[in-house]
Amino acid sequence: MALELPLLMNDLSREYFSIKEEIDEAIKECIDTTSFIGGPQVSLFETEFAKAVSKDFCISCGNGTDALYIALKSFDLDINDEVIVPALTWISSSETITQAGAKPVFADIEEGSWVITLDSIKKVLSSKTKGIVVVNLYGKLANISQIASFAKEHNLFVIEDCAQSHLAKNSKLKHYSESDISTYSFFPGKNLGAYGDAGAITTNDSEIANFCRLYARHGSLKKGNHIIEGINSRMDTIQASILAVKLKYLLKNTEKRIQNAILYHKHLSVIKQINIPMLSSGLSHVYHLYVINTDERDSLKKYLAEHSIFTNINYPIALPDQKCYKSNLIQASKDFRVSRYLARTCLSLPMHPFLLEDEIKYVAHKIQSFFEK
Ligand SMILES: Cc1ncc(COP(=O)(O)O)c(C=O)c1O
Repeated sequence: MALELPLLMNDLSREYFSIKEEIDEAIKECIDTTSFIGGPQVSLFETEFAKAVSKDFCISCGNGTDALYIALKSFDLDINDEVIVPALTWISSSETITQAGAKPVFADIEEGSWVITLDSIKKVLSSKTKGIVVVNLYGKLANISQIASFAKEHNLFVIEDCAQSHLAKNSKLKHYSESDISTYSFFPGKNLGAYGDAGAITTNDSEIANFCRLYARHGSLKKGNHIIEGINSRMDTIQASILAVKLKYLLKNTEKRIQNAILYHKHLSVIKQINIPMLSSGLSHVYHLYVINTDERDSLKKYLAEHSIFTNINYPIALPDQKCYKSNLIQASKDFRVSRYLARTCLSLPMHPFLLEDEIKYVAHKIQSFFEK
């Protein structure tokens, strides 16, 4: 079979055409009923998503950044408070801590899993620490159970940034997470992606759920009645109806991602010059991204592009080295060795549920030929 080139990081059109009729029908219904904001599809999606991740409450909102910001606002933070966050992640995880009134304190990530650990958290813990934002980077679940029980002992909150880890699950414990709040992005390229921006917060805590809903809706539950000042952050009806259709396929698509990761492992493990991601059993890694490491990252990226293979760098600069943080880092420990190593060497290969084995073989073959040059 001839390959369809170029190979994209994430081919959203293949997914769309696989469920086109259902998606088109869902969008048409919103338009036919002119139900653009606050239609019944929004609360329907909230109910279905809460069920899918085994949580009592789901509050939909405008995007994953808002979800983090709203979640953080529920902890009443001020300028003397510190919140621990990984030194390598998308900036939403840390900028929202500042926006919510506190100071982000960066913890280094662990080599191989690329997520923060209890050890790295303890290194930057201080008397001012109020909470921890744990990020399941690339789709790999951090050790939330361990972090959450430590946090409980020390009276700290835990927010789990699941923007890259929809349905990631501790298969040994058979549950999703023990964090106070989980936040999700439904950016189009995410494992569950809308056709625009969308996000959500999930929790089992009714007080947190009530606050988040209130805060995201101008502090108002009844039109014209404002209990607090809030923001306007809502998922529109078209996005909710698309997400409800796509949610039905999420588990199957997650399993396909894992199968594709296993195929990449099979074909890439013979190449000594690269490190491949950890292969976890069960759903503890849902491979939002399949990220390899090599010292020759930049020239490999260029070579793959010349052979019509698109790759990404997630992310090129560790957060403490970003201009916006560099000059005002307040923390004692500034050991970000692993985050800096990852920023220098990481390369995300094409990864999505509709990737074919021949395409994976082609990528692996080109990586091998790069190192044999
Ligand atoms: C780890 C992480 N957190 C938060 C976000 C923010 O999500 P959004 O783009 O929907 O605001 C993203 C999106 O890229 C992300 O990857």
